[in-house]
Amino acid sequence: VAAAMEPSRLMGFKAIKASTDDAIVLPAGYRSSILMSWGDPVLPGAPEFDHTGGNSAADQALQFGDNTDGMSLFHFRKADGSLDMDRAMLAVNNEYTNGEHMLQHGEVKTAEDVAKLQAAHGVTIVEVCRTSGNAWEYVKNSAYNRRLHANSEFMLTGPAAGHELMKTAADSSGTKVLGTINNCANGRTPWGTYLTCEENFNGYFGAPSDEAVPAQQKQYYGIKAAEDRYRWWQHDARFDVSQTPNEPNRFGWVVEIDPFDTASTPMKRTALGRVKHENADVLVNKDGHVVVYMGDDERGEHIYKFVSKNKYAEGQDAVNRSLLEDGTLFVAQFAGGDGKEHAGTGRWIELTFGKNGLTPENGFNSQAEVLIHTRQAAKQVEATTMDRPEWISHNPNNGQVFCTLTNNKNRGKKDDQPLNAANPRAENHYGQIIRWEAKDGDHTADTFDWDLYLLAGNPRVHEGSLYAGSDAINADNMFNSPDGLGFDSDGRLWILTDGDDSNAGDFAGMGNNQMLCGDPASGEIRRFMVGPVGAEVTGLTFSDDYKTMFVGIQHPTGGFPDYRDGGKPRSSIVMVTREDGGVIGA
Ligand code: FEO
Ligand code: CA
Ligand code: CA
Ligand code: CA
Repeated sequence: VAAAMEPSRLMGFKAIKASTDDAIVLPAGYRSSILMSWGDPVLPGAPEFDHTGGNSAADQALQFGDNTDGMSLFHFRKADGSLDMDRAMLAVNNEYTNGEHMLQHGEVKTAEDVAKLQAAHGVTIVEVCRTSGNAWEYVKNSAYNRRLHANSEFMLTGPAAGHELMKTAADSSGTKVLGTINNCANGRTPWGTYLTCEENFNGYFGAPSDEAVPAQQKQYYGIKAAEDRYRWWQHDARFDVSQTPNEPNRFGWVVEIDPFDTASTPMKRTALGRVKHENADVLVNKDGHVVVYMGDDERGEHIYKFVSKNKYAEGQDAVNRSLLEDGTLFVAQFAGGDGKEHAGTGRWIELTFGKNGLTPENGFNSQAEVLIHTRQAAKQVEATTMDRPEWISHNPNNGQVFCTLTNNKNRGKKDDQPLNAANPRAENHYGQIIRWEAKDGDHTADTFDWDLYLLAGNPRVHEGSLYAGSDAINADNMFNSPDGLGFDSDGRLWILTDGDDSNAGDFAGMGNNQMLCGDPASGEIRRFMVGPVGAEVTGLTFSDDYKTMFVGIQHPTGGFPDYRDGGKPRSSIVMVTREDGGVIGA
């Protein structure tokens, strides 16, 4: 029986039903419109999107990339220093591509095909302007617009930059990299830069034979000789590890970008570790140190924390720009509490060369090696294996930190992933959201308390078991696979899903992927939005007045957004506004 709950004072909208329609569904009083879709022209000379798949690689490099994901909005400042509420830069990730839609012949066959896929990856940065009410448009050909893709120039910085393992025949310095790929989620810093996080970079690398794949890459990062999804390695030697074995070491980083300076070189910040990064949640601790929480999204991987060496200096953004250069990386260990269900204590274990067994006897010869081999280091210190850590977000009102653990079919099935207090369900196909509170509210502290904010589940199919989900989950708000996550300034928690949308069996009644809103104080969860057929809902940012919500619709498979005969489904950024012009969710 669900616990009686006080009605939420944070949420003013009426929850919507699950839906399997090929449409965006919102509560009464809300409407949606499209800001930008895959292939829309961004840079001067870009042609319009060709629904037959006929755009070339060169065209795509001037257009919005594919599969929109994490994004952040940065308002311009007026001459008097105040925020310009009508003008901003939007930085958006383009995570990956779907060859069946991208290419006329449906699969990668030529170097030109690979070049097109490469051009559709990375980051798109566009100027956006408020047009009327709370609607915005992106500005075609703005001098601020920029595309970063798999062949753009990046710099490696921090302790691992220049290490032998970072050098290639084309880059003897070990500091200059071409490209950012599989840009999943994001972060933004208080000093006005954008963070884009490289996730499943392994999928772009391959080799003619298994022996050619370096053992470390194979064991910890999943690089396989027979890679067959993107086939870049077959047409671009940089992605063939038999020819360029160190190239994968130059991916899997958090990348810092100045969204206002098209001439700036984005920086891969090696101090934050090399994993399959999901997002980077940045906060300034009460003592001024900058703390970044990060998930590594793979079954049985871990949650990380970076603490900057230097302190944030208000108003000195040029100095703040080096804060992610130098600091200490930690990985989380979660323990069960004394008799408390779904709660306990945890500690952060330092990943510093020479400490905690990160020594030459165990294969680590420098801090650079600890960072390049972050996953190996986390295993060495016995970090807790988690159910795929996706987004992390802190509540701006009380500093509590939330992380989605999306699902894990291996939990309780593989020897290295036994059930544990924080990941309590075998073959977890619904996911949970874990929450922690730093000791004394100090995010640099080594210890914390945690609990499970919610367990997703299906109370209709699994009444009376853990698979029914937490008390807050009922037949009207159930969902699976929480992934995107973000607080607004009032403390509403927005939960975006990327799960099984079959609406059948264990997932009956859940419908398409969706967005829910949580009130962490009351515990109540309401369904706010449902996405179109086949899509994942991912990527979330707001205008600074919180009256326009920007949300990403990734990999739709029906007619969305153009619904045109013979047309292609296109990943798109949607704007959600209120008919009465009010704050979203309130
Ligand atoms: Fe790109 Fe883990 O989502
Ligand atoms: Ca995700
Ligand atoms: Ca996911
Ligand atoms: Ca995705």
